[in-house]
Amino acid sequence: MPKYEKIWLAVGIGSLAVFLIVTGIMAVSMGLNPPNGMGTTIEPEKVETTVPFNRPGLEKIGPNEYRATIISYIFGYNPNTISIPKGATVHFQVTSKDVVHGFLIPGKITNLMLLPGHVVKYTQKFNEHGEFLFLCHEYCGIGHQEMYGRVIVKDKM
Ligand code: CUA
Repeated sequence: MPKYEKIWLAVGIGSLAVFLIVTGIMAVSMGLNPPNGMGTTIEPEKVETTVPFNRPGLEKIGPNEYRATIISYIFGYNPNTISIPKGATVHFQVTSKDVVHGFLIPGKITNLMLLPGHVVKYTQKFNEHGEFLFLCHEYCGIGHQEMYGRVIVKDKM
């Protein structure tokens, strides 16, 4: 085998190994996994009559700890605004009642894919005050770019 061919073969195998290692580390340490069938599922047509999504909104569950129950739909979120104090920990539980949507908070780690009827949970802490968008980052139709909401983090409530 010519020398250059050996070098290129080594480079190819090496970069494949690096790619697999990086992907593996990210999947394990950062929790970047595709949704699987392990979570709770509910009937997409009955989201609004199924606990806890029959009462979407923000609920205080501890000292500066909240649960945000959010339904996504074409093209929005219910509720589309939540207000919390600085330093709050928010346990999001989100689902979709129609098609696949996303739930991304730019600048935060929260990055969820919402499959119809699948309940996705994620905990996010908000240490600085300000407004944070959450938005749909899965193309879901003509109004996709209109699909967003806000987390308002207040210095004092
Ligand atoms: Cu919902 Cu894009």
